[in-house]
Amino acid sequence: MYIKPASRLGQIKYSVMDTIARAHEAEKKGKEILYLHIGDPLLFDFDTPSQIIEETYKAMLDRKTGYTETSGITDAIEAVENYSSGKGIKNINDIFITTGVSEAIDMSIAALVDEGENILVPIPCYPIYITSLYKHGAFPNPYYLDESNNWQPDIEDIKSKINDKTRGIVIINPNNPTGSLYSNETIRKVIDLCLEYNLVLFSDEIYDRLLFDGEVHTSPASMTVDATIVTFNGLSKSYLAPGFRIGWMVVSGHEKTNRDYCEAIATFTRARLCANHPEQYAIKPALEGDQSHITEMVEKLQKRRDITVNMLNSIDGINCVAPNAAFYAFPELQFEINDIDFVHGLIDETGVIPMHGSGFGQKEGTNHFRVVFLAQEETLEKAYNILGDYVEKIKK
Ligand SMILES: Cc1ncc(COP(=O)(O)O)c(C=O)c1O
Repeated sequence: MYIKPASRLGQIKYSVMDTIARAHEAEKKGKEILYLHIGDPLLFDFDTPSQIIEETYKAMLDRKTGYTETSGITDAIEAVENYSSGKGIKNINDIFITTGVSEAIDMSIAALVDEGENILVPIPCYPIYITSLYKHGAFPNPYYLDESNNWQPDIEDIKSKINDKTRGIVIINPNNPTGSLYSNETIRKVIDLCLEYNLVLFSDEIYDRLLFDGEVHTSPASMTVDATIVTFNGLSKSYLAPGFRIGWMVVSGHEKTNRDYCEAIATFTRARLCANHPEQYAIKPALEGDQSHITEMVEKLQKRRDITVNMLNSIDGINCVAPNAAFYAFPELQFEINDIDFVHGLIDETGVIPMHGSGFGQKEGTNHFRVVFLAQEETLEKAYNILGDYVEKIKK
């Protein structure tokens, strides 16, 4: 007997799992493991702000444990609306509270695409967009982020790839896996393409509070009243509560244009009843309560970013574009090596674990790896020293 899985899933690979399996093997052999591959701040010296925990706990004690309205509790929707308006987002049509940004991404894509259609996704990309598109019988249409231009989207490349089956453009800003923040000029050009070709702009802003060097984040939805934009955000990163599984999406643009699309998203939200109930009570205290943890987090991360960039760039054969947001860097290997062999060899021999670049997608002929710089400074220094020695050894 054989149970054949859906063939469209054949396209989906989760290379992070290979890396994790490899790391477990290295650990079993007694190697000290230095984690540079997991984007979960709670595994490092960051903690969920107490007001978020307390309000959720209180909601549980108050027996807020039934189903909620499908799009979310009023308190949470109002808090997201205030946050979005505070960022200058105009013409809000609808807000949906979801089980993490992951669910928002999946539902907003499912509500838009028909079989065989495509959405422009960045390369390198946070993989869920690609998984979700295949899952719904649609295709990722890859456009490049330009490493020589601080990893900004390559607008000419986007334009050249739009076809009659293209329905949207995804931007992840600040970006995972490159840590770059997009200029307003770049964002404006993406908006213009969406308007010209009648495309939905998906703006993933989950790292919007983690900015270095005094940078400011601009939501595309604050720059236009005309384009249809789905803005994603949530509690997993800046609010240090990834296990709460709470995110949201804000659909903005012309009400009439988006009415049926919003209704299609609402249909999917009804099908899954609601997001986690007690955890929705964390949204208001997170967005409106004490924000000091963000200042502390940014301070720590900026130092860790500096160590990452300085130490990696001092290794002959590695070039690291300095990230100005989030907690990722995507350095290039500038010598003859395949990125998977590099990362696997590094894990097996040293216990330092980054992720190989091809797990996110990269330009043909280039080789990268992603590092997550959430670990403490001593750990990062140790890891980059080991990595430098390893590069020197394999280059010989
Ligand atoms: C760019 C991006 N979007 C979405 C997510 C998923 O967020 P959530 O935990 O809210 O599902 C992540 C998680 O790493 C991410 O990096």
